[in-house]
Amino acid sequence: MEASKKAVVYIMPQKIQKQRYKDMMKAALKHKFIVAEIFKSNVTHVVTEYETVAQVLKVLKIAALPQHTNLLKVNWFIDSVKARGPVQIQDKHRIPQGDEQVDHKDLPESASLPTPIPEYACQRSTPLKHYNAKFCEALELLQDYAEMREADDDYMRALAWRRASCVLKSLKFPLTSVAQLKGAKDIGKHVEQVLQSILDHGTSDEVEKVRNNPWYQKMKILTKVFGAGTKTAQEWIDKGWSSVAEVKENQTKGDWRLRFGLAFHEDLMELVTRLEADNFTKFIKHQSENLLSGVSVELCGGFKRGKTKGHDIDLLFTHPSKGKESGFLLRLLSVLESKNLILCGKWNKSTYTEEVMYSDSKRTRNNQLDHFEKWIGIIKFPKKWQREISEEELFGEEGENVSLTSESYDESEPAMKKFKSEELSPRDIAAQTRSWIARRVDLIMVPYDQYFYALVGWTGSKQFNRDIRTYAKRTHNYAMTSHGLYDLKERKALPAKSEKEIFDILGVPYFPPEERNC
Ligand code: CTP
Ligand code: MN
Ligand code: MN
Repeated sequence: MEASKKAVVYIMPQKIQKQRYKDMMKAALKHKFIVAEIFKSNVTHVVTEYETVAQVLKVLKIAALPQHTNLLKVNWFIDSVKARGPVQIQDKHRIPQGDEQVDHKDLPESASLPTPIPEYACQRSTPLKHYNAKFCEALELLQDYAEMREADDDYMRALAWRRASCVLKSLKFPLTSVAQLKGAKDIGKHVEQVLQSILDHGTSDEVEKVRNNPWYQKMKILTKVFGAGTKTAQEWIDKGWSSVAEVKENQTKGDWRLRFGLAFHEDLMELVTRLEADNFTKFIKHQSENLLSGVSVELCGGFKRGKTKGHDIDLLFTHPSKGKESGFLLRLLSVLESKNLILCGKWNKSTYTEEVMYSDSKRTRNNQLDHFEKWIGIIKFPKKWQREISEEELFGEEGENVSLTSESYDESEPAMKKFKSEELSPRDIAAQTRSWIARRVDLIMVPYDQYFYALVGWTGSKQFNRDIRTYAKRTHNYAMTSHGLYDLKERKALPAKSEKEIFDILGVPYFPPEERNC
């Protein structure tokens, strides 16, 4: 400790949550550290959450640190607070100087970028409409292709294309030169090549080759069927089928999703409009309030992010009084069934336990899975709900609402519970003259103490979720899911009472749903 008596400490506020930063400053002053408010040449200890020297130099806008300045992890500061004074620096405290070391010749240009592009998409505003659709379409086609191929490294490759696309989506100007992306971490050599080619020739050979690849074209069409993943689509192709019509003709087996998905494919390919989603939400809100006063119903997914069309309607339910939500979803389904609005679907009870949070955080691929009670299915959506309609007409004649309880259900096999018409085959039903159109709907019930995390998760985008979860893990060692945020080291949950609070805890600027379209 002797040697570091004259330590002048500078704590880099970036990447440290505001409150935590305040607490650190308080602790520093309490223990009489000399703290620099800004980085100056007399600073001897720089403390940061950044993981590389390059990032720090970029933020400090300098080419190199002075000889006497040590670049340290937050763990040095924590050890020092415990010791009530600056401790001797050990290896574990140092930011590694490996190949991440900045290439000095690169620095002036990247350091002089007007606003450097933040590393994670969750730190950037990503609007629905942006300036670089042409580039993003190409990059996401390559993402698609890699995702379909499903070999191990293809998954990482798919994500790399998507992350690059997300950088382009967040630009506030149309790309005219790849140099404008200098310093953006997700823009690698391969991406630059594709972009350069589009800039030079309007297209990229690599992209066009995939676009014209017959296998890609078939997969693209067949994976659109509700219930068909890449595996099923591949099986169909292996059988020599290349269109949905051919599959429809020949496919005999399959679970309820596939059977209904195929039979109602045309309905489902016609996208859900915002008006339809709003009408449906209003209707469900009305029915829900009748069943359980104070229940909250929120339209999430793409519509929440400002999309005007979507492939389904995602509704999130909660109730502010703990436990009130129990049994509600089944009662609601029972009302929908009594009004003959359910074509098919599957209800799953909640599988949430505190423990799943820690184990889920270790999963990388399936970070989409959550453990909420939910119903996934297809609604017989009255055609008159496709246009503007009065509440009177939407809610139907009063008195028709039979009050049902969950007892009217056969819960002998709750995890497999299905609501569907048994008599006719899906194909028969589809062929009838109908006053309704098939609409995919997700209904998710969330306990209130997990609600705002679920809201972020079900608002998306999917890529936004991936990204904010990676950010939480890498910068704070927190596991983030739709159920909550967990400090893995302390093994404790970090509850939040609003979306904004979640962003604050993570130290990410708050972006409204409309700016989470990455
Ligand atoms: N989601 C989830 N768990 C699932 C399914 C979806 O957390 N089992 C999330 C997705 O990550 C997404 C949001 O819920 O952010 C909505 O999912 P989805 O309906 O598939 O996508 P949208 O963004 O709504 O796109 P679309 O408009 O085409 O429906
Ligand atoms: Mn959706
Ligand atoms: Mn959905």
